[in-house]
Amino acid sequence: MRTFRTKKETQTEIGLQKLKGKTIGYVATMGFLHEGHLNLVAKAKEQCDVVVMSIFVNPLQFGPNEDFERYPRDEKRDSELAEKAGVDYLFYPTVEEMYPEEPMMEIRVTKGTDVLCGASRPGHFDGVAVVVMKLFQIIQPNKAFFGLKDAQQVAVIENMVRTFDIPVEVIRCETVREEDGLAKSSRNVYLSDEERKLAPQLYQTLLKGRELIQAGTTDRDKIISFLTSELNKFSLGKLDYTDVLSFPTLNVEKQLTGEVIIALAYQFKQARLIDNVIVRVG
Ligand code: PAJ
Repeated sequence: MRTFRTKKETQTEIGLQKLKGKTIGYVATMGFLHEGHLNLVAKAKEQCDVVVMSIFVNPLQFGPNEDFERYPRDEKRDSELAEKAGVDYLFYPTVEEMYPEEPMMEIRVTKGTDVLCGASRPGHFDGVAVVVMKLFQIIQPNKAFFGLKDAQQVAVIENMVRTFDIPVEVIRCETVREEDGLAKSSRNVYLSDEERKLAPQLYQTLLKGRELIQAGTTDRDKIISFLTSELNKFSLGKLDYTDVLSFPTLNVEKQLTGEVIIALAYQFKQARLIDNVIVRVG
């Protein structure tokens, strides 16, 4: 595996590979790698000749009171894991390399951001869109692999690709979980022992919501009030939101039809966790 710190080196080397006719698979991350990330690498390896990963904690997507400064970082461990997983090129830029000057324009995401994390993290998806747009331009992959753990992010990136005709195929990949069901996340290291014990209940609650839908309940409000009352029973932390929306359009539909996402965000003391399940109605 080769590690590049600059956009120029990255573009030159990947350009050479493309000239040789190789297809490029890309996995964007903020590091502190776990099996969720490594599963994206495995999928990229299955489908592409060359796999590129980026590790960049993007300040633009963190709000003023969020965890940008203390987001976990460990370059040595991440490099070893990436290499073992079969990454060919690791792009590991500094903030100065990615944002050398005050940007002269911005991206404002106008669809699908008034719900879920978009509603509780204003500006977050604008920041994601800018960095992913830049990373797509730098790496110019044929396929980019994103996890459904961040389902709203997948929807926003797919919309961006369509809106700006970016020549990349977005591949959705399933959420990878711990044995007890907790979705793998770089932020899980911030859970106390007690919180860690409770955290799998979040997924269990989503599954109960799914069962309700599968048993024939299609009234959105009913499912939301069921989920809310279940989640408010927990003795630790606080529910940020739970919702049921069409997927991937993320529209509010009082009577659920087609594919829907049941999603939640839950705030523990040091970690805000998100999770979701996608289910077909009927
Ligand atoms: P990060 O949280 O590091 O996630 C990188 C990728 O890994 C995303 O596509 C995310 O959905 C996926 N991922 C994380 N946990 C997963 C899990 N348990 N199962 C499956 N996939 C999982 O998402 C970001 O970084 C950033 O917003 C980024 C896209 C890199 C832009 O800065």
